[in-house]
Amino acid sequence: EPGATGRAGAKAILLGEHAVVYGRPAIAIPVRALGVEAHARPADDRGHLSSTLYHGPIAQAPDRLGVTLTAMRAALAAAGRPGAALDIAIESSIPAERGLGSSAAVSAAVIEAVLGACGFAADDETMHELIQTAERAAHGAPSGLDARTVRARKAVWFDRGRIEPVSVGDDLVFVIADTGVRGRTREAVAAVAHRREKDPRGVESALDELGELATALRRDVSTADRDAIGSAMNRAHELLNGLGVGDPALDHLVHAAMAGGALGAKLTGGGRGGCVLALARDTASAEELGGRLTRAGAAAVWTTTVEGVA
Ligand code: MEV
Repeated sequence: EPGATGRAGAKAILLGEHAVVYGRPAIAIPVRALGVEAHARPADDRGHLSSTLYHGPIAQAPDRLGVTLTAMRAALAAAGRPGAALDIAIESSIPAERGLGSSAAVSAAVIEAVLGACGFAADDETMHELIQTAERAAHGAPSGLDARTVRARKAVWFDRGRIEPVSVGDDLVFVIADTGVRGRTREAVAAVAHRREKDPRGVESALDELGELATALRRDVSTADRDAIGSAMNRAHELLNGLGVGDPALDHLVHAAMAGGALGAKLTGGGRGGCVLALARDTASAEELGGRLTRAGAAAVWTTTVEGVA
């Protein structure tokens, strides 16, 4: 049996994180500068794993590799080879725990590689279910947004488990800035659930507004109305702060982005750390904005363009 490769990319949520967990729609964009590649091949002995987190026998891999191991085992079971020993190598440029979909992307790449190495061809829905199995190990009850988006090549509209392409009126240039603070998605999701129990009306009204913002945003993206997109992002950031998933480091970079000429900026992903997503007027201003965010203390900055497609 030959070896096989799997690939997946990073994602950023333009609008709708947390609200999607409660059935509201969201829009996400691929971040092409960052990705994961996984290779799998039949092992001579009992199977080794090689990644930036760990090099060694799979049987001795530590708990923090739970997502990777769950992904591998789920894929082996799906391929009808539950006990098979594979050597797996993972290379990722996506920083972990920064709201950029690293766990879903690693899972997707590992699953694709493992299935390929077993000569098993999975359809899209099987792939999705397998990634979700690994995502559940990562953070409990994932909406499926990350699992869908890390395999998408364009901006997507996500509604109750399904994605559709989003029409994009003109190139939109975003800057992503990393606070360097770990985002703890599981805790952030639990915090929203807790707040919803204590204040159901307040939280439901914030979730409704996030859903309405996503719906309006889809139209604004289709006409590339940058000012409208920017103000929706700013409002989403306020609402997310109200839900308790903000962080001073996120606010600091959001303010720096706005002072640096961004049209809008918000936390992206689970929050409580992780990254800020900012909309720039154009490519030249994105460069300036990136410099500004770096000087404001961002641990890393990336620019990503969502290409206009009818
Ligand atoms: C995490 O990237 C997005 C959240 O909405 C969680 C989820 O969708 O499962 C916070």
